[in-house]
Amino acid sequence: MSEHLTVVTHPLVQHKLTIMRDKDTSTASFRQLLREISQLLAYEVTREMAMTMKQIETPMCAMDAPVLAGRKMVLVSILRAGNGLLDGILELVPSARVGFVGLYRDEETLQPVQYYCKLPPDLGDRLVIAVDPMLATGNSSAAAIDLLKQAGARNIRFLCLLAAPEGVARMKEAHPDVPIVTAALDERLNEKGYIVPGLGDAGDRMFGTR
Ligand code: URA
Repeated sequence: MSEHLTVVTHPLVQHKLTIMRDKDTSTASFRQLLREISQLLAYEVTREMAMTMKQIETPMCAMDAPVLAGRKMVLVSILRAGNGLLDGILELVPSARVGFVGLYRDEETLQPVQYYCKLPPDLGDRLVIAVDPMLATGNSSAAAIDLLKQAGARNIRFLCLLAAPEGVARMKEAHPDVPIVTAALDERLNEKGYIVPGLGDAGDRMFGTR
């Protein structure tokens, strides 16, 4: 991927996103739409997966046909909202390995602190897709990518539903080698770090918490 930021403007993605943004959309609908959009975004983020040719026989004749090459892809969910993007993508790529990274924000330093990290082996040989619906300040996303790189990942992409310009700039500064795929680039962050117009707290909306 040559672009650092790809906004997926497909009408289905944009329509579903609008319903998700609506404050009156139910938890069940929000979750289902996130699952559907995750698959449409996955189509874009996996566009350049390595391929090879394999000889098969159709009922008509032998042919060389394209198949995925190399080690299994890795999805890394940035907890907890990242989990909302996992199931849909796993339906498309059932053999993907899955890792989890948990970070919280230290109230004094305001810096992300790791509380959980469980990753598949051999990250260096695999396409690694980190998923988190909201790229807001970019601090926790950049810290999560730091962890993936420390664990050996070299071919990383970041998939989110919404991005703020501040988050995109932070990621570009910290990880210019990590392309970002999103459904929308919103206007700004508010004083509490929420994306505006955004959709509120993605974790709360998908899990029904507050
Ligand atoms: N996380 C969210 O869930 N929503 C935002 O708007 C920003 C960060």
